[in-house]
Amino acid sequence: MLNIALPKGRLGDTAYACMARAGYECPALLEPNRKLTFENPALGVRYFWVKPSDVPIYVERGAADAGIAGKDILLEYAPDVYELLDLGIGKCRMCVAGPAEFRDDAAKTLRVATKFPHIARAYYSARSREIGVIRLGGSIEIAPLLGLSDVIVDIVETGRTLKENGLAVLEPVADISARFIANTASYQFKHAEIRTMCERLENLS
Ligand code: PRP
Repeated sequence: MLNIALPKGRLGDTAYACMARAGYECPALLEPNRKLTFENPALGVRYFWVKPSDVPIYVERGAADAGIAGKDILLEYAPDVYELLDLGIGKCRMCVAGPAEFRDDAAKTLRVATKFPHIARAYYSARSREIGVIRLGGSIEIAPLLGLSDVIVDIVETGRTLKENGLAVLEPVADISARFIANTASYQFKHAEIRTMCERLENLS
């Protein structure tokens, strides 16, 4: 049996659709209830719905053998897992955004609001730019509007949230998409099952 952590929410349905198309369906998972674990013993698969940012924790610690996580989460938390495949779903960009007219004043510490403090620090440290990180849990776009920060480092998918809040992309940071990841020990001990799953996911057209 392979235990698979799936990200609840926006990416979750597409992630499960990939698994189903790869031959690992679990129809019970689509029923309207609040259960968080589902299994299809005939296909040797058990799924857990977890918070997207928790997927690498379950996989790193072996509670799940494999999972689907956004590259944003992998960059932010740098978990000790194998990143086996870019699934090509959940595509978006990590960007620096702010008011279109914003001009950085090198004499001042740049105030950066973000849910991704590690990514923000790494990006600006590579540019030798001193920043102050303001860590928020969501609705990041509000921070520059209220003067809480100068810019934000955040996910941009359609660009609609930025546009509707009068902000613009200032600098791209990284391309993001969902990745199939595996626990390092499971990859040894359940090698054949994980490789087969990975190859079937890779061969989806
Ligand atoms: C994400 C991200 C942006 C938005 C981008 O937020 O933080 O706010 O989506 O999408 P768009 O470019 O298509 O408008 P999410 O919906 O995950 O909510 P959050 O406010 O909790 O971060």
